[in-house]
Amino acid sequence: MRVRYRGEIIDAPSVSRSGLSAIILDQRSIPSVVEFRTATDLPDMADCIRTLSVRGAPAIGAFGAISLAICLAKGIPSATAYGALLSTRPTAVDLKNCMDRVMRAYDRGGSDAALKESDDICSSIVDSCREIGRIGASLFKKGERILTHCNAGALATIDWGTALAPIRSLARSGMDPLVYVSETRPLLQGSRLTAWELSMEGIRHKVLVDSACAHLFREGLVDSVIVGADRVCRNGDIANKIGTLDKAILAKRFGVPFYVAFPWSTFDPECVRGEDVPIELRDGTEFAQYLIPSTAGDSEYWNPAFDWTPSELITAFITERGVLDPSRIGDTPL
Ligand code: MRU
Repeated sequence: MRVRYRGEIIDAPSVSRSGLSAIILDQRSIPSVVEFRTATDLPDMADCIRTLSVRGAPAIGAFGAISLAICLAKGIPSATAYGALLSTRPTAVDLKNCMDRVMRAYDRGGSDAALKESDDICSSIVDSCREIGRIGASLFKKGERILTHCNAGALATIDWGTALAPIRSLARSGMDPLVYVSETRPLLQGSRLTAWELSMEGIRHKVLVDSACAHLFREGLVDSVIVGADRVCRNGDIANKIGTLDKAILAKRFGVPFYVAFPWSTFDPECVRGEDVPIELRDGTEFAQYLIPSTAGDSEYWNPAFDWTPSELITAFITERGVLDPSRIGDTPL
């Protein structure tokens, strides 16, 4: 992904491995400060995920795979490393799926095989995202006005993105999309991260507060919605950033297609329906203390990080395997 770093434009992945170090673009401080963070020990690796230094389902999966492989190479017991990393965040299934791949490689061929598998996982995520971009772009017309929520871009996937992949493809082929970016309270992944990525690529976009979305639809300003996913259930329900369900309901109400883009590592055939997805509840001080104290201070908080959207509200899935009918995802061979 294109990044302005210390005054220069460089091409950098959001997650990578160098020897026995895991390296990420630290997503907590973007766009104010663009800095890399290096994690070499298990507590620090777990902290990177828990504090959203690295975030977005495929990026967490890639980082978990790299971290686990490094821990195994350093002789940390597999159960200790696997357990500590898995307990960081519950909703995105990529973390488990990618770490399971590393464990299988380790059982077959030891720590060298585990490290190689973590590298292969990173390459396959990037390849899948490029394919999602190529396949997804065919669904949109020239000048399409597209609403997205949270950040499902290169930051969330190493490179290219899921929801942002077709948008990148459209922009590169001169189709001039206009992206509406909902700010995504409380941690502002939309206004801080997605808008920054789109700026880096020179793609037209407008940021709006979450509560402006219904009005945006009623004004007829949206042609389609595209979001990523943290977990896709066997029946086609999806979990994604809190506020995704609102957009899906609005899209249905106003007759606008609602697309969900994801790589196969986000599919969880063991999870039958949306009700079964563990929804992460985060500390309410995330929004009570943001920028300025925003509550009287003695309130209690309810701060779910995700919601789930029933498959009946989803027009189509965009995956590296093609454009799929959400209600038939469970029939797709693994
Ligand atoms: O809490 P976050 O920022 O990790 O939530 C991320 C999302 O909800 C993304 O939309 C999802 O992981 C898809 S990323 C390609």
